[in-house]
Amino acid sequence: MLKLAKPSAEYKNSFIEAVKEFEVRGEDFYLHEKKPSDDFNEVLQKIRRYEKGINLPADRVPQTELWLVDGKKFIGWVKIRHKLNENLLLQGGHIGYIIRSSERKKGYGTKILELTLPVAKKLGIDNILITCNDNNLGSAKIIEKNGGVLEDKVINDEKELKRRYWIKNK
Ligand SMILES: CC(C)(COP(=O)(O)OP(=O)(O)OC[C@H]1O[C@@H](n2cnc3c(N)ncnc32)[C@H](O)[C@@H]1OP(=O)(O)O)[C@@H](O)C(=O)NCCC(=O)NCCS
Repeated sequence: MLKLAKPSAEYKNSFIEAVKEFEVRGEDFYLHEKKPSDDFNEVLQKIRRYEKGINLPADRVPQTELWLVDGKKFIGWVKIRHKLNENLLLQGGHIGYIIRSSERKKGYGTKILELTLPVAKKLGIDNILITCNDNNLGSAKIIEKNGGVLEDKVINDEKELKRRYWIKNK
């Protein structure tokens, strides 16, 4: 059954497989100091620390990370930032997600955001900011299908054009 789950050792093997898929494609999306295959527990501890806001770097805010899973299979992750800072307001927003490479274009991206909205509601986020690169058509569709309204497009420090969408979280 497809659901958002708390990251746990239950999904370890599948999660490590997924990280390898990212690496093969040169996608460095799961940024941790150590490779998850070297120290999976470190990954879990870091996720928990971020959720509680313990020892965060100055530019980081507390965030909840959840994994989209089907049975024991890891499909993707979503991170919900509990509040915005100056940088997240420009790019990053409240919610970021990734679907493992082998499972893209099957509707999971749309589903992960749909399942995340009530979780964000429980965290008290009534107006959700989500940003994506202007040329990330997949992500733009996901946001629009979940009620996102485009506010504007801005250029970040890396000279990338970013779309900024808001979702009214009912
Ligand atoms: C962007 C991403 C999450 C899309 O996930 P996904 O599971 O493929 O999304 P879906 O299957 O729900 O697709 C949603 C829509 O976008 C379209 N789409 C997906 N990937 C696309 C692409 N690369 N180019 C164009 N359209 C795309 C789908 O066809 C679908 O269109 P439809 O609604 O007309 O049928 C995934 O490609 C990914 O993880 N990318 C890397 C990380 C990333 O960019 N995250 C978002 C940061 S803002």
